[in-house]
Amino acid sequence: MTSHLFSPITIGGVTLANRIAVSPMCQYSAVDGSANDWHLQHLGSLSVSGAGMLVVEMTAVTPEGRITPACLGLYSDANEMALERIVATCRRWGNSRLGIQLAHAGRKASVHVPWQGGKPLSATEGAWQGVAASATAFDHDWPPPQALDADGLARIRDAFAVAAQRADRLGFDLVELQGAHGYLLHSFLSPAANCRDDRYGGSSENRMRFPLEVAAAVRAVWPSTKALGMRITGFDWIEGGLTSTEATLFASALKYAGFDYVCVTSGGISPQARPMIEPGYQVPFAETVRRDGKITVQAVGMIADPYQAEAIIADGRADCVALARAFLDDPRWSWHAADSLGADIAFPPQYHRSRPNLWPGAVLARPHRGVGH
Ligand SMILES: Cc1cc2nc3c(=O)[nH]c(=O)nc-3n(C[C@H](O)[C@H](O)[C@H](O)COP(=O)(O)O)c2cc1C
Repeated sequence: MTSHLFSPITIGGVTLANRIAVSPMCQYSAVDGSANDWHLQHLGSLSVSGAGMLVVEMTAVTPEGRITPACLGLYSDANEMALERIVATCRRWGNSRLGIQLAHAGRKASVHVPWQGGKPLSATEGAWQGVAASATAFDHDWPPPQALDADGLARIRDAFAVAAQRADRLGFDLVELQGAHGYLLHSFLSPAANCRDDRYGGSSENRMRFPLEVAAAVRAVWPSTKALGMRITGFDWIEGGLTSTEATLFASALKYAGFDYVCVTSGGISPQARPMIEPGYQVPFAETVRRDGKITVQAVGMIADPYQAEAIIADGRADCVALARAFLDDPRWSWHAADSLGADIAFPPQYHRSRPNLWPGAVLARPHRGVGH
């Protein structure tokens, strides 16, 4: 039987060997936005995982757009230079197509790294002013952001485009914009965070306007020979929040704007949101967006079992799956999934001896690990 999960797919101008993506994961380990040896070993290891696509963590397009002082950025020449070595390593040794998630943290910026509590920085700790759709704080003990004016909107829109040009120069195959998890673009989309009374607030059309302006600015500079997508929210899990109907409308607008895919996630707009978390809990949102939005869709969220992932693709609920924590736990997740599903997958030759069936000339009835050298 041929595996659906391990069948190739073309997204935009990029063909992936299979339908598995390593989801973007913040590492909170950068210095002044620049990547270092942590990112090299983290991404280097994941780039030989056999996943069709590996997406670099949320990467800020301006310094104030970082969630924490240790978040990755792509707003300076130094940031670009630091990523160059990492991209070159992943391309030389790895077998995944490489993407990067570009983002602005909006009203969730200027906080401590999670393992130091994740709460807002104080002035003495170097806090900076957050910006958002409206001047409403994320939580009662968080500082209020400034509502962006026309100049601020134009500055951030242009910063997304400049960062995308840097990503192109670096050789990334794919850019994904972060339009979810309560960050800047989501703060415009969601009625739970956007209280504006100008042309960027109110109706769905108005709330989509700024994210679509950013999308158009990035589309204009990002080559059509590569892939372009956005991570969007399928549901806000809060009364008066964004629904999957609006998510679908937004996905269709992105498709119309020339985007190649969306990754459908949920939550993050407010601490009052109450997601019902269980295996595959966001897949129904992905399925709705795929069916009604007619765009290539990636499903994400508590997908960790190969048969579960296979069924999501085989049943037509999503075109690809993205996994985050499963890859932290087991960077060889795809190898083991391929074993379970009887599929072929790329291996670096240096690791062939973990796969006895790949030893030159070897005919072994059973795996025979740890013998010889
Ligand atoms: C350590 C960590 C960092 C994350 N950072 C990001 C990020 O940079 N951008 C993003 O969109 N989601 C981020 N997420 C969310 C994941 O990409 C994913 O959507 C979520 O963990 C659910 O998938 P999972 O159940 O496979 O972990 C992060 C998750 C983890 C565990």
